Amino acid sequence: MRDTKIWKGNSTFILAAAGSAVGLGNIWKFPYMVGSNGGSAFVIVYLICILAIGLPVMASEIFIGKFGRKSPINSLKKISNEIHISESWKFLGVLGSLAGILILSYYSVFAGMAFSYVFNLFPSGLENPSSYSSAHFFKLSSSPLNLIFWHSLFLIITCLIVGAGVVKGIGRSVNILMPILFLFIVLLSFYSASTGDLNATISFLFSPNFSLLTPNVILSAMGQAFFSLSIGMGAIMAYGAYMPDKQQIGKTVLTIILLDTFVALSAGIAIFPIVFSNSSLEVSAGPGLIFETLPVAFYSLPMGALFSIIFFILITIAALSSAISLLEPFTAWMEEVFGIKRRTIVFLIGIFIWLLGIGSIFSFNIWSDIKFMNLNFLEFIDYFTNNIMLPLGGLFIAILVGWMLPREFVKENIKMKEGSFRVFILFLKYISTSSIFLVFLYSLL
Ligand code: TRP
Repeated sequence: MRDTKIWKGNSTFILAAAGSAVGLGNIWKFPYMVGSNGGSAFVIVYLICILAIGLPVMASEIFIGKFGRKSPINSLKKISNEIHISESWKFLGVLGSLAGILILSYYSVFAGMAFSYVFNLFPSGLENPSSYSSAHFFKLSSSPLNLIFWHSLFLIITCLIVGAGVVKGIGRSVNILMPILFLFIVLLSFYSASTGDLNATISFLFSPNFSLLTPNVILSAMGQAFFSLSIGMGAIMAYGAYMPDKQQIGKTVLTIILLDTFVALSAGIAIFPIVFSNSSLEVSAGPGLIFETLPVAFYSLPMGALFSIIFFILITIAALSSAISLLEPFTAWMEEVFGIKRRTIVFLIGIFIWLLGIGSIFSFNIWSDIKFMNLNFLEFIDYFTNNIMLPLGGLFIAILVGWMLPREFVKENIKMKEGSFRVFILFLKYISTSSIFLVFLYSLL
């Protein structure tokens, strides 16, 4: 790979990977999953999964990408040739690159909805803001044209960034977007903690109630950990190829997961206090939590309109820096194979993703009754990617690095300190591999 495709300094890789990790998963999904899975018990299992599974698998992904210096598919091919095992490991990259495209197709629809909420200002003097909010959400989600507009806009911006290249597109945009994101999330948490009910939030998030721990809660927590860290499909592997030689994998992974967890918890602290402060609202509202419930909570607070705008800009930025990482693996691979312009490739893949996204949009309205395995189009893609493709991808990455690659080979190339390396391999080999396997098996039964 040409050196022009390697980011300078340590911070761009960290910002890009954290940008990938921090997204709708942290700010939209995490709070509502905590809310509907009983609070603290879910949070604790989630944190354990992040450390025991997320950290080793993410380090493995970066390792493969950095070693291969190519797209995930070709990096996997290179590493298997290097140690003379079957080249079929590259299909792990194929699975992942496709998962990225499938996820992006509906991710863009939700991100577009969040974007539209930046401009959703409630008129003053409403008697019943709750019914206004529900009516607004219903109007948006029942209108395919409206949704298509926002989906298209979001996807075009994503494609423009990825099309502009690794350094000038992705690298430059994360350097601008991520500092704004961190500033906004801190600002919002302070606002929320000072205007809302912080005590109720703290006990909801952190006082453990293990009676609420069911196998399903554990399953959701692991799925959420995978999704939130962007692991299992090669997004982080693709970025690993652009990591400077000297940058250390161990330290970097720790920084990324700390940032990701920090944003997820801050999102909880930004959202729950204001929801708790309004006794008519429910934290267990599910996916509608930020779209239907939150605007009502903002409505009754001082400077609520301003902070609502800040909140939805924050979500849009977080989603954008994740979306580019979903598109990158397939784009990088096509660039290597066909040698045509990145912009042309992104345009072609973009059209395909756009069409798939329309299927998800129709699931809210005209296709809502068309079901396959009892799931509509959107639910099916969501289920198939999150519950099958990502865990399967994560499992095979753990098996490849933990079991297939010779220990000495990994040790020599990953460049961790002796002690950290031992812990890393131990977790990867025994804990990550077996827990992903078990949880995956359970989810299929
Ligand atoms: N991690 C992102 C989020 O929390 C979503 C995401 C981006 C992702 N890239 C990914 C999820 C790769 C799985 C795999 O919203």
